[in-house]
Amino acid sequence: MATNRRTFIKSVTAVGSAIGLAGVPRLALGQEAESEPVWTPKPVGKARVPLNILILGGTGFTGPEQVEYAIARGHRVTLFNRNKTRPGAFKGKVAEELVGDLNNDTSALQGKKFDVVIDNPTTAPAWVRNAAKHLAGNVKHYIFVSTTSTYSDQSIIGLNENSPTVVLREGIDPYSVDPQVIGGNYGGLKVLAEKEVQTQYPGIWTVIRPCLIVGPLDRTDRFTWWPARIDKGGEVLAPDKPDDPCQFIDSRDLAEWTVRVAEAQEFGLYNAIGPTHPMTVSEMLYGVKAGTTAGARFTWVPWDFLQEQKVRPWRDMTVWQPPYGRTAGYQRRDSRKSIAKGLTFRPLAVTAKDTLDWHKTRPEQEKLATLNGEINGIGLKREAEVLAAWHAKVKAGQ
Ligand SMILES: NC(=O)c1ccc[n+]([C@@H]2O[C@H](COP(=O)([O-])OP(=O)(O)OC[C@H]3O[C@@H](n4cnc5c(N)ncnc54)[C@H](OP(=O)(O)O)[C@@H]3O)[C@@H](O)[C@H]2O)c1
Repeated sequence: MATNRRTFIKSVTAVGSAIGLAGVPRLALGQEAESEPVWTPKPVGKARVPLNILILGGTGFTGPEQVEYAIARGHRVTLFNRNKTRPGAFKGKVAEELVGDLNNDTSALQGKKFDVVIDNPTTAPAWVRNAAKHLAGNVKHYIFVSTTSTYSDQSIIGLNENSPTVVLREGIDPYSVDPQVIGGNYGGLKVLAEKEVQTQYPGIWTVIRPCLIVGPLDRTDRFTWWPARIDKGGEVLAPDKPDDPCQFIDSRDLAEWTVRVAEAQEFGLYNAIGPTHPMTVSEMLYGVKAGTTAGARFTWVPWDFLQEQKVRPWRDMTVWQPPYGRTAGYQRRDSRKSIAKGLTFRPLAVTAKDTLDWHKTRPEQEKLATLNGEINGIGLKREAEVLAAWHAKVKAGQ
């Protein structure tokens, strides 16, 4: 959910003191944060023209942030989903909650008209087509959330909107709704879903291709591993070299820009990748550490040794991809086009602290699963083994 003011103030105060931000006034002991504004982000403010927005999905990860922001901007929001994920989360907040399934039942969309549709959950072109049965001709703008996994050659440094895209493997039905087919052909199907959007909504489409989305509500642990692990303290296995590049986008930056794209009627194709200025993996890890007090220490272990130990990039060393060979461009993609159209990024300190705060509210079992590396992240046990093997090698080499 969007960070409320109290959480935000708590986050900023904690991060501010951790990294020594100047000009952050101190609160007296016991003083209620709400009574004295410390530092607040720019107020949201109302949009000039309120829009009638349909959000497909809207209750998972970046969707809820879109809903909150769109409502704050004064728009009328309708949701369409199966009512399985966080049912009732927006009861009384959104104008309408339509229930259906993009696989096979989009009848709840019949006869409806919208200024804008934001399509979050779709990978399969069939989903675009199923929704278009009722929406094509009845909307003024269709925004499709795609992915940078659409790019076929991730060795290219500076991948931009004109770079080559994945071609679906031969023999795969492009209109399949089989979850296994969809999961196994993510990039290729997203490319075709983008094309389906362009066919169904000619001249009124926007395709947004985010890289790794991070922040509160992300249960994949792909970024969350780092705040959770670093908050535990001790020796932390860090990937390869401190100067390796690193990119991601906070789900709230993505969501808010998506709504602003709707307001500005920006059509076309955009990468959505943060931050504005190149970030290194050590900047990320020390930035995360700045919001903690556990005294984590990083040990940088070269990629050659990580490979010997079968430590996987992305899955075990989350966020990180080797900046060599076929993944040389993975963390050096180009987002200048969207930045020129108003995409902005929160400071890493805010993303890191909010993610950690959210992680701490997760059920105990989920938090344990994170530290065990059950979803993504190497996990404490394997991390200790790899560090021990590395120290033994270093000692033997002396
Ligand atoms: N996570 C990343 O790092 C990343 C990176 C790049 C791109 N992306 C893309 O980002 C997009 C946004 O994902 P999100 O999880 O943040 O979106 P979201 O809108 O927050 O959550 C997914 C929504 O889809 C709904 N849904 C799932 N299956 C459905 C179906 N068959 N019919 C109707 N609704 C259905 C879910 O509700 P119900 O379960 O109630 O139906 C839920 O509301 C995805 O397209 C993903 O490919 C993600």
